[in-house]
Amino acid sequence: MEPSNNKQLNTTKLFIVAGLVLLGLGMIYGLTGAIQYLVPGFLKKYFSFEKVRPLHVSAVVFWIILGAMGSVLIYLQQHTGKKLHAPMLTKIQLLVFLFTILAILTSYYFGVFGGREYWEFHPLLALPILSGWILFLFNVVKSIGTLKNQPVYVWMWLTGVVFFLFTFLESYLWIFPYFRNNIVNDMTIQWKSYGSMVGAWNMLIYGSSFFLMEKISGEKTYSTSRMGFLLYFIGLFNLMFNWGHHIYTLPTHHFIQYISYVVSMTELLILGRIIYEWRASVSAARRHFHHAAYKFLIAADVWVFLSLLLAICMSVPAINIYTHGTYITVAHTMGATIGINTFLLLAIAFDILHETCRSFEHNNKLFNRTFFVINGSLFAFWISLILVGVMQSKWQMSEPRILFGAMMLQLRPFLISFFVFGLILTIGIVIIIYPLIKNQLLCYFTPTTNQDHTPTVAKESMSDNDLN
Ligand code: HEM
Repeated sequence: MEPSNNKQLNTTKLFIVAGLVLLGLGMIYGLTGAIQYLVPGFLKKYFSFEKVRPLHVSAVVFWIILGAMGSVLIYLQQHTGKKLHAPMLTKIQLLVFLFTILAILTSYYFGVFGGREYWEFHPLLALPILSGWILFLFNVVKSIGTLKNQPVYVWMWLTGVVFFLFTFLESYLWIFPYFRNNIVNDMTIQWKSYGSMVGAWNMLIYGSSFFLMEKISGEKTYSTSRMGFLLYFIGLFNLMFNWGHHIYTLPTHHFIQYISYVVSMTELLILGRIIYEWRASVSAARRHFHHAAYKFLIAADVWVFLSLLLAICMSVPAINIYTHGTYITVAHTMGATIGINTFLLLAIAFDILHETCRSFEHNNKLFNRTFFVINGSLFAFWISLILVGVMQSKWQMSEPRILFGAMMLQLRPFLISFFVFGLILTIGIVIIIYPLIKNQLLCYFTPTTNQDHTPTVAKESMSDNDLN
């Protein structure tokens, strides 16, 4: 069916919309897992924890991947001012990803696994993901055209797209006995590939965030600046070598681990500084117009510094021995994937999806309130996880060893607050993303209205609607 108004819900926007749906779904799975800590056996028959954990992790990881792909495809067109090289390939890419994600989530439900942590689905399902990514790579490379005088975000997109492919392949080397039969090599490759894969999607997200920051401020400040390129090169080094800090417990050279830790923290420090400085350069009018996107960028900046703080603590070898394998690691992962990745992607989602045939203005009050609830609850959620981790590490080191059951009783208050704040966080995020999705769908299916709710500052991006 042809869209009935000019604010089209096109294929590239669908990447973000589908990602948002996965985010909501993923958080519901996360909540189910959190209840299972408190009520062992809850929904065990259909959704045991062995199924719920991969359902949660895969749903939120695919939110990040779909969101990152959609942002690059949309901003790339805004950057070049042209349509993508092969719009048909984008449609195929979207369909391939959607069907594969559906197959993956369904296979978990039926208890079909066969993969490794984070990619627990059967390795055969990696093939369509791989082919979808190759289509993406081809389209991005061809749409960029020349590399001459390109801003830093284009370099980030290219690097992210190429390295993701490489590290994704690498994360499947374990299927060959040559790699699988040596446990140290096997684990080193696995953690190396995961660390680099996160670095690769960060490149896509940070590049798109740079583009958005310049769009909001209306000034091309960072895309050709030294600081921007410094972040790019550190990010590149980081995605190649940051895996060192994932293998603290393996017998490898310590200098590799120390270097990689310092580099990954430098990357966060520079990103945090860039957003911090950018914030001062945005005029009040532009800040007001790009209200939601601006706020999420600033929130992500706060989370960059909080994650940095936790990472510094965890990087001290004497502390890492205690924190390794506890919920402090989970706090680190979830703090970064929610506070940095998700918040940056939500900023981008608001920029891309808020302009529809229906006004978004009346949602502003609710947005402001919910935004504070989201940030407050995420902080409390994160602290609860850290406290669970501290109790766990005390238990691991206790002499004589306290019984597991007794330890779980001690953890209960923190697990309750983890669930309660997780619930508030989920409700907050759903309240915020619901109107974004609803407006897109309503405008797609309803006739064009003649109202133009778009303030002057937005006119510059009106041509976005012509893109695919
Ligand atoms: C944007 C939202 C979220 C993202 C991106 C996210 C991401 C993640 C990631 C990456 C992991 C794996 C952590 C690791 O292995 O180190 C994880 C685990 C988990 N998350 Fe979330 N999460 C989100 C929201 C939630 C919420 C709202 C809850 C509910 C309280 C939740 C509950 C859990 C649980 C129970 C686990 C399993 C921890 C374990 O292994 O025992 N998550 N999440």
